[in-house]
Amino acid sequence: MKDKLIKMTEEAIEKISESSSLNELNDIRVLYLGKKGHITSVMKSMKDVAPEDRPAFGQLVNEARTKVEEALDEKKEALQKAEMEKKLAEEVIDVTLPAKRTKVGHGHPCQIALDEVERIFVGMGYEVVEGPEVEWQDYNFTKLNIPEGHPARDEQDTFYINDEILLRSQTSPVQARVMEQGKLPIRMIAPGRVFRSDNIDATHSPSFHQIEGLVIDKHITMTDLKGTLDEFAKELFGPETKTRFRPHHFPFTEPSAEVDVSCFKCGGKGCRFCKGEGWIEILGCGMVHPNVLEMCGIDPEVYSGFAFGVGLERIALLKYEIDDMRLLYENDQRFLNQF
Ligand code: DAH
Repeated sequence: MKDKLIKMTEEAIEKISESSSLNELNDIRVLYLGKKGHITSVMKSMKDVAPEDRPAFGQLVNEARTKVEEALDEKKEALQKAEMEKKLAEEVIDVTLPAKRTKVGHGHPCQIALDEVERIFVGMGYEVVEGPEVEWQDYNFTKLNIPEGHPARDEQDTFYINDEILLRSQTSPVQARVMEQGKLPIRMIAPGRVFRSDNIDATHSPSFHQIEGLVIDKHITMTDLKGTLDEFAKELFGPETKTRFRPHHFPFTEPSAEVDVSCFKCGGKGCRFCKGEGWIEILGCGMVHPNVLEMCGIDPEVYSGFAFGVGLERIALLKYEIDDMRLLYENDQRFLNQF
């Protein structure tokens, strides 16, 4: 029995020293010291031992048990230490690795162009205001001197919600809204989205943006209009830029004009960019029609003013030399990242 015990102990200690994980170690503990373990069963066979030999036998088994327990504890500690070291080695942070770059977005070319236009007019003392995109036809047309049946309504065919309400076809209704508030003088620009029942192509979209401008005060004349827009063009396209005012017709201004800027690519000689013209059209403008002033509660005998409307996409296309408006709406990062 004694020899068997010694052999058992040696065997256990060998297994312990060969074990390579805490789980394996636990299995060995159960195998020898568990309720049905080998050493435990030797202890249980005490009853078969002659009473006078029992103390010595008990001591032997206890010694064997202690030896195995000690070996288990020692190995456990060693395995835990190794495991910790492995973890520390694996989880080490290499502070010399280059940091991951976070991508910061930037303004859309239309937004950059709008910021620029706002900067120019705010610098001249203008306020930036907004009006609703869903508008009364009254504001979109009637109060702008475009009564029902007027052909200008057809020209701006748009999306009607019902007989009275539509998606605004221009930012000009903001003029009427601001004038009606009765706070004079007025110096404002109103950027925003407009809608027209147009098919999409390189220069058209059913939804685009305009920037409306309005100045109302005593003694405002065409000179103020020309000087202001000439300054605007020079700020936007460079100090050499010249402007040209061509007579035109808008129902809400009289007289009205379209404004061209000298081509900033060829300086006016004529090139592919300006289609050989030397001039590029940028906006519509005019002196606010007395009918409009009256309909909006302003006395045309006392006050006068000028207005203008700029296409924002057009400005962005010109400024960044983009040849297709659709690129502005496609949200292709390869395109947008260039600005
Ligand atoms: N609303 C006009 C359009 O959409 C643009 C315009 C022209 C606005 C002349 C004005 C203006 O304020 O005076 O075609």
